[in-house]
Amino acid sequence: MSQVDLKQVRARAKELLGSYCRVCPVCDGRACAGQLPGMGGAGSGSSFMNNVRALSELKFNLRVLHGVSEPDTSTEIFGQKLSLPVLAAPVTGMKHHLGEPVSEDEYAQAVLLGCRDAGSMGCVGDGTQPEFLEAGARALGAVEGRGLAFIKPWPGQEFFDALDKVPNAVAVGSDLDGVGFALLRARENPVKPWPPSKLKEVIARAGRPFIVKGVMTPDEAELCAQAGAAGIVVSNHGGRVLDMTPGSAQVLPAIARAVKGSLTILADGGVRSGGDVLKMLALGAEAVLIGRPVIVAAVGGGSESVAAYLDTLQKELATAMILTGVARADEAGPEILWRG
Ligand SMILES: Cc1cc2nc3c(=O)[nH]c(=O)nc-3n(C[C@H](O)[C@H](O)[C@H](O)COP(=O)(O)O)c2cc1C
Repeated sequence: MSQVDLKQVRARAKELLGSYCRVCPVCDGRACAGQLPGMGGAGSGSSFMNNVRALSELKFNLRVLHGVSEPDTSTEIFGQKLSLPVLAAPVTGMKHHLGEPVSEDEYAQAVLLGCRDAGSMGCVGDGTQPEFLEAGARALGAVEGRGLAFIKPWPGQEFFDALDKVPNAVAVGSDLDGVGFALLRARENPVKPWPPSKLKEVIARAGRPFIVKGVMTPDEAELCAQAGAAGIVVSNHGGRVLDMTPGSAQVLPAIARAVKGSLTILADGGVRSGGDVLKMLALGAEAVLIGRPVIVAAVGGGSESVAAYLDTLQKELATAMILTGVARADEAGPEILWRG
């Protein structure tokens, strides 16, 4: 049983993050709107806020006449059994975005070890400095590769050189929406969108399960499936790359209708509670990624706090499953959501 007090963890994170994150009671993108570098969403912050709002507007059908009392929150993705369908999202840029409350290495280790200890796994990311992915690679080493690695869509050979740094990751992928960052477009060798033919070529050469992060439309989800992707993350990058997109929960049902069964569907953006996890599953995701609340846990208390946060989510998820009559996480469907 974890002895971590998440209230204290949040207080400590608030101290360390200072003006970079106010650790609001509900992390909804309002206080930090437009704060980039930082924790905020791009521009008006509407895409971040839409993520949170889309989930909070969904309501459950409460059901009690059934036999579900010990729901199974576990799932399996990319051949890995997870105790709950929640992964820590890839996050890098401790100095640039957060004023360096911890180092890249400390962050990546806290997240991957914490997720592993909670029976799940975490993701590592990539960014302007090669050191970011290298820190992630060291953390992957500490958990025998139990994690996913997302690499920026670097041009040419650079992408494959980055892939070589994470040989043991369970699966690899690219946050193709990373082209939204001006710093990455301003390089001598800029990142650019990948046409479908390029995606197909990269997937064939990667020779490992490949995940495309940053899919927000059914047609692009279909293109990913046709290109041979093993998975997608329905995501607007936490609202950080383009202002005025819908919330990811709003686009997820149509994407699931288009590609469910042909690849693994992950989703992120605004997931804050076990109830939010269940909503994403009901809309068609197989597992979710969580960004900012994991940052708060990792900065405020390291791997133990990340594990404690995931344990809390698992308990909340189990309660929500009992009260909606869902026996297994992979059985959650749209019928548990109230349609009025
Ligand atoms: C400070 C910060 C840094 C991030 N760094 C990365 C990154 O390096 N690679 C990536 O794919 N996504 C990155 N993301 C986006 C997250 O992976 C994820 O898509 C997003 O945070 C999910 O939304 P949420 O924070 O509302 O849960 C970052 C997000 C934040 C807040």
